[in-house]
Amino acid sequence: MEIVVIGAGGRLGAALMREYRRKFDVIGFDRAQLDLSNRDQIRERIDAASFDVLINAAAFTNVDLCETQRDRAFYINAEAPRVLAEICRDKDAKLIHFSTDYVFDGEKREPYTEEDEAHPISVYGESKRAGEENVLAVKGRHLVVRVNVGPVAGGDDPGGARDHAETGVTAPGYSASDYSGILHFANAGQCSWQEYGQWALDCCEAFGVPIKAKTVDALELKDMTRLRQGYGGQANWMAPRPVYSVLSSARYTELTGASPRTWRDAVADYIRRFYSKK
Ligand SMILES: NC(=O)c1ccc[n+]([C@@H]2O[C@H](COP(=O)([O-])OP(=O)(O)OC[C@H]3O[C@@H](n4cnc5c(N)ncnc54)[C@H](OP(=O)(O)O)[C@@H]3O)[C@@H](O)[C@H]2O)c1
Repeated sequence: MEIVVIGAGGRLGAALMREYRRKFDVIGFDRAQLDLSNRDQIRERIDAASFDVLINAAAFTNVDLCETQRDRAFYINAEAPRVLAEICRDKDAKLIHFSTDYVFDGEKREPYTEEDEAHPISVYGESKRAGEENVLAVKGRHLVVRVNVGPVAGGDDPGGARDHAETGVTAPGYSASDYSGILHFANAGQCSWQEYGQWALDCCEAFGVPIKAKTVDALELKDMTRLRQGYGGQANWMAPRPVYSVLSSARYTELTGASPRTWRDAVADYIRRFYSKK
């Protein structure tokens, strides 16, 4: 099985590389090796590669910068995936393209399913939704995997994405990767970002990882605007975030017979494996 991973230098892409290198013939492209904003380069480099599965883990993920760089967001998150889908169609290869819970507006109060209508409220969300549509509009066996990290009050944390690699949602050979269309995948359970952060600190303490604080206080999403100051003029918390963005993994479980582990187990395992010296 030959696999190409685009975005191999990113959080999810690097985790996929770590996981698949042990089992498959994998080639990774980081941004220096393949710039998705250069269509000719995509065609030249990906056309030349031999693969059965192409995984696109690259994206313009800075949610706030997307607000002011709309064209770039749409090019990388929507136009480039279309080109990748066309290449996969022509090579009869499988495309696995990653998307996000940010395609939803966050108005629901129970986990979003694949049938729920996407209604993005940020440029990032709009561009990722356009990417999903572009990929699925191209004939082929394309899989769009929407991921998130579980907490109720949206954000950009990588923890869940890393877990997806380790849980095997994209792993060739699993029935989930034979599926075409949109598939949600997230760790089980739900929490606020405060609970998530607190649990991470509790795990650090339990595993002997040095920490400067032991408690995470509550801050409402609407009050996060004050974080706009103090980051050297960088755009922070400019983009609206969905306040509730839990994804239901029920379809994934139906397809695979497997249930994702809980977010608490995933965070604990991640901290133990990557930070604990014990
Ligand atoms: N992390 C989350 O919380 C989360 C939640 C939901 C969905 N997702 C989705 O999961 C996928 C992976 O995200 P991630 O968390 O791994 O994000 P990430 O760490 O930001 O990785 C994205 C990668 O894409 C690369 N990239 C950006 N612009 C590029 C370009 N023009 N050409 C080629 N590569 C480019 C980045 O390179 P540079 O570092 O050099 O810019 C980075 O290595 C994305 O589709 C994202 O939308 C993530």
